[in-house]
Amino acid sequence: MSTARVAIVTGGAQGIGEAIALRLADDGVDVVVSDIPGKEEQLATVVKQIELKGRRSLFVTANVSVEADIKGLVDKTVEAFGGLDIMIANAGITLFKPFLDTTPEDWDKMFATNTTGVMLSYKYAALQMIKQGRGGRIIGIFAMSAYSASKFAVRGLTQAVGETQFDSEVEPLFMVGNIAQELRPHKITVNCYAPGFILTPMLAHPDDDKFGGLGSVAKMAAKMPDDLEGAKPSVVAELVAYFTKPEAYFVTGQTINVDGGLMFD
Ligand SMILES: NC(=O)c1ccc[n+]([C@@H]2O[C@H](COP(=O)([O-])OP(=O)(O)OC[C@H]3O[C@@H](n4cnc5c(N)ncnc54)[C@H](O)[C@@H]3O)[C@@H](O)[C@H]2O)c1
Repeated sequence: MSTARVAIVTGGAQGIGEAIALRLADDGVDVVVSDIPGKEEQLATVVKQIELKGRRSLFVTANVSVEADIKGLVDKTVEAFGGLDIMIANAGITLFKPFLDTTPEDWDKMFATNTTGVMLSYKYAALQMIKQGRGGRIIGIFAMSAYSASKFAVRGLTQAVGETQFDSEVEPLFMVGNIAQELRPHKITVNCYAPGFILTPMLAHPDDDKFGGLGSVAKMAAKMPDDLEGAKPSVVAELVAYFTKPEAYFVTGQTINVDGGLMFD
């Protein structure tokens, strides 16, 4: 039986998720890549690249905002590779629209993917890791687009739960700090990466060629500094690889920006 650790990467068909999947394979991890139905061809290509690195891999299509999909993803992973050690809740969407044009449908879709999707990924990974009793690594994407609203939603949730279990000051998005504390007795760490201006298909705009290539329109729209150059997804993957390492057991409840200094918090 293989003793390699097993990871799931959601949103793994392209961009940052793909880079993380390949980077974890370099570290000897077997990787299940997942994405929405329709991305099978890209997923199969990622699987092939991981197998070429000598690791086991398979893809599972799943919509992260659907509970049954995430449960199925974890179950299929355990069935195929015998367990789950690392969950990378990377799937996310963004909305290139002025706020005044945003519809409730846009809003709901963004929250379903970026907020509920991460929560479900955390939950089903944690349940499986606790059952196994050998610890684990849970790593999530901090989706800036939902930042302000999700922060208040999380605060409301925390106050409703009461202060016996949670501190009054919460970390944004899913109280990473508190989840980390809740899972610490199980030797599961929980951390987030917060990318900014990473050159992936997410930043693509039809007018990019007119303004200097991939990400140029996004950069102008977000009023980013002229001297900021976008980074490759592998830059994020390197940080995520660190979070997954056994020796990173003492790093938990953290959110690390990977954005060339766009934000300091
Ligand atoms: N690129 C950046 O600069 C940047 C900045 C901030 C946050 N992010 C976040 O980083 C993560 C990766 O982004 P990326 O830049 O690689 O973008 P990307 O669009 O290239 O990749 C995201 C992947 O997530 C998948 N996905 C979307 N909705 C899904 C769902 N409901 N279920 C399962 N999979 C779903 C997409 O199909 C896609 O393959 C996302 O969560 C994104 O919000 C990226």
